Amino acid sequence: MTSTPPASTRRTFAIISHPDAGKTTLTEKLLLQGGAIHLAGEVKARGQARRARSDWMKIEQQRGISVTSSVMTFERANPDGTIITFNLLDTPGHEDFSEDTYRTLTAVDSAIMVIDAAKGIEPQTRKLFEVCRMRSVPIITFVNKVDREGRSPFETLDEVADALALDVVPMSWPVGMGGTFEGVLDFASGEISRPEGDSREFLGKRERAELPPEVAQEAELAQAGYPEFDLAAYRHGDLTPVYFGSALKNFGVTELIEAIARYAPPPRPQPSEAGEIAPDRGEVTGFIFKVQANMDPQHRDRIAFMRLVSGTFRRGMKLTPSALGKPIAVHSPILFFAQDREIADTAEPGDIIGIPNHGTLRVGDTLSEKNEVRFTGLPNFAPEILRRVVLKDPTKTKQLRKALDDLSEEGVIQVFYPEIGAQWIVGVVGQLQLDVLVSRLEAEYKVAAVLEPAPFDTARWLKGSDAAMKGFADFNKSSLAKDRDGDPVFLAKSAWDVGYQQERNPELTFSATKER
Ligand code: G4P
Repeated sequence: MTSTPPASTRRTFAIISHPDAGKTTLTEKLLLQGGAIHLAGEVKARGQARRARSDWMKIEQQRGISVTSSVMTFERANPDGTIITFNLLDTPGHEDFSEDTYRTLTAVDSAIMVIDAAKGIEPQTRKLFEVCRMRSVPIITFVNKVDREGRSPFETLDEVADALALDVVPMSWPVGMGGTFEGVLDFASGEISRPEGDSREFLGKRERAELPPEVAQEAELAQAGYPEFDLAAYRHGDLTPVYFGSALKNFGVTELIEAIARYAPPPRPQPSEAGEIAPDRGEVTGFIFKVQANMDPQHRDRIAFMRLVSGTFRRGMKLTPSALGKPIAVHSPILFFAQDREIADTAEPGDIIGIPNHGTLRVGDTLSEKNEVRFTGLPNFAPEILRRVVLKDPTKTKQLRKALDDLSEEGVIQVFYPEIGAQWIVGVVGQLQLDVLVSRLEAEYKVAAVLEPAPFDTARWLKGSDAAMKGFADFNKSSLAKDRDGDPVFLAKSAWDVGYQQERNPELTFSATKER
């Protein structure tokens, strides 16, 4: 038995990457290392079986992208015997789902950035990285596919340093590449792991002298040419340790998972209206960062994902959602062990639990025992594409409203109900979300709709005194709408329009994000 407080044994993290960099493969290998699954390929295979059951997920298959995020929990023993619990939050690997991804990043304490050794950092990954920086989420970089012919590791390191404006610290080094790939040298242990059939064999410290001279020289240069690893600087987000490896061939993955266990921060305090709430606060608190409707089309369920911030949660506990004001009993929370749903009995800070509900829980809600805490920092982002939703069958208005409310809650779209006229407007940050919308409307809500161009280009949330709002509304009624929560929104024809109105209405604020 160990007396380590449970929160300090949690590592809650996300993997961010460009599609195809190897996130799925790496996830499988991490789960394997954690003993959560026994066969590589199982994650994918199960994913496909699940997908086959659901119509809207066809888009995932067709485009080879992952639309939904999920949570995977697995455990692994440290060399000293403490058990570390890893909560891996999957993020969609597509730029079009940035809002969903942003929200997921609010619920993690650190991230792993996977890049393809041959390709480097791609624009989408850069964007995700910026979100991590915005939220001070520290990043470990994993340079994948070093078993293939790629660029020089120095080039990759310099690109990471440049793109992220961070210090980079190589923690390992590939021995050869492509045809000459022999394994990965771990700087800390001095061990080289190399391919040997399916198993890993350590050549050990002694062998370093026997490295091909150019590799030995390179490795020395790498160690000398970059700063030393500094835990505080990494956790502060000023430095990224870089591990080289191959997810496919299972090289460098052990070093990576050990790095997460050793360096990645345990659950951190979360910002609230009344200052930071620490994991050791003697009360269960958490926040909803994601709601997923219809995960199982047979059951029409709705799962709210809660990140536990403080306290030990026990099944059946009564928690008060901030928006509801009265307590609900959480009888059947779900923990996600390698994508199987399991009933959880307890959860600790850093853990994610799924709470089945019928629409009571919403993104941004705080849940707590005493109903005193209000977490902050889960913004909505102004959409970049706006469309008018036109029903093919006008008798389906009620269903459409329900669907739009549900899907906006999930972060698939945002919805705006104009003050004038009956045609609702949806907003997205990427084109693909529109395809998902139409396909899910049909599959899950039996609503046939088409999307037409809207006369608006962007949206801004409005804030100001009643008098200022009224003054604005008198002249701009046709550009006013309410969002899902009934908050006023200015639908603008262009960015210029936003600037113009801002100038004319200095007593109003026009905001591109909305705190939930
Ligand atoms: P993603 O989730 O980030 O989109 O990437 P995924 O893991 O699906 O990997 C993308 C492709 O890259 C896959 O090949 C995968 O096998 C390959 N890959 C991943 N890691 C490595 C690695 O370390 N070395 C090499 N050489 N390849 C790697 P695919 O042919 O597109 O898919 P599949 O036929 O293997 O399923």
